[in-house]
Amino acid sequence: MSKVTVTTLQAHKAAGEKFSVIAAYDATFAGLIEEAGIEVILVGDSLGMVVQGHSSTLPVTMDEMVYHTGCISRGCKAPLIIGDLPFGSYSTLEQTLTNAAALMRAGANMVKLEGGEWLLESITAMTERGIPVCAHLGLTPQSVNAFGGFKVQGRNSDQAAAILEDAKRVEAAGASMLVLECIPSELAVQITQALSIPVIGIGAGADTDAQVLVLYDMLGLCGHKPKFVRNFLADNDSVQSALKAYNDAVKEGTFPAAEHGFS
Ligand code: KIV
Ligand code: NA
Repeated sequence: MSKVTVTTLQAHKAAGEKFSVIAAYDATFAGLIEEAGIEVILVGDSLGMVVQGHSSTLPVTMDEMVYHTGCISRGCKAPLIIGDLPFGSYSTLEQTLTNAAALMRAGANMVKLEGGEWLLESITAMTERGIPVCAHLGLTPQSVNAFGGFKVQGRNSDQAAAILEDAKRVEAAGASMLVLECIPSELAVQITQALSIPVIGIGAGADTDAQVLVLYDMLGLCGHKPKFVRNFLADNDSVQSALKAYNDAVKEGTFPAAEHGFS
């Protein structure tokens, strides 16, 4: 696989070819993910929960995100690497630009942040400065306290309309990609069709342009299995074959199945 870029992913969307994404945090797994043919590695702040053992992503720091972005970047060549800006690291425009640049220097090819409307100016400023942006809407885990728990978003029609509107606005502001987390599958289809940038789903049904899962979830290593997760190690005898099975299932459209989505 040659280096995956924003252009590659845009071409996949235009051709109607699905691609796959894994959230991972270290060099050894980065190499295995690349070997499986997975296009994108997200260095997610989910590491606060699955690596550090916190009950939310809020305690994760910029230094930790830079460290793990470096670990991933040294472990693979081809996958496009997205680095997450952690909670509280993009509250002002200046802080956002400084921190996004730090993730890019650590090896990220794109930077992700959570939210819509309030980030439009930041998204434009990052894009203008050569930092491709991935937006993130729906269940944005950094807002767990505001949501009153990890709950599916966009279930009533006002909320759904607001998420669709935010999606259009982040694209217009310059975002190159969008993650939709835990929203009804019907809403995710609507957003995916309305946007020309690739849309990555997690708990958002089968009809987004791409899928993402947290590595340890798709290997069945976490105690609690969310509804949208499939354990790919259950029917495979190695991590390597589980990653290949995930990549194949996403591309063939056999994962996620209807049972993994919300209505
Ligand atoms: O941190 C993360 O792993 C994420 C994905 C679940 C989208 O943001
Ligand atoms: Na994240």
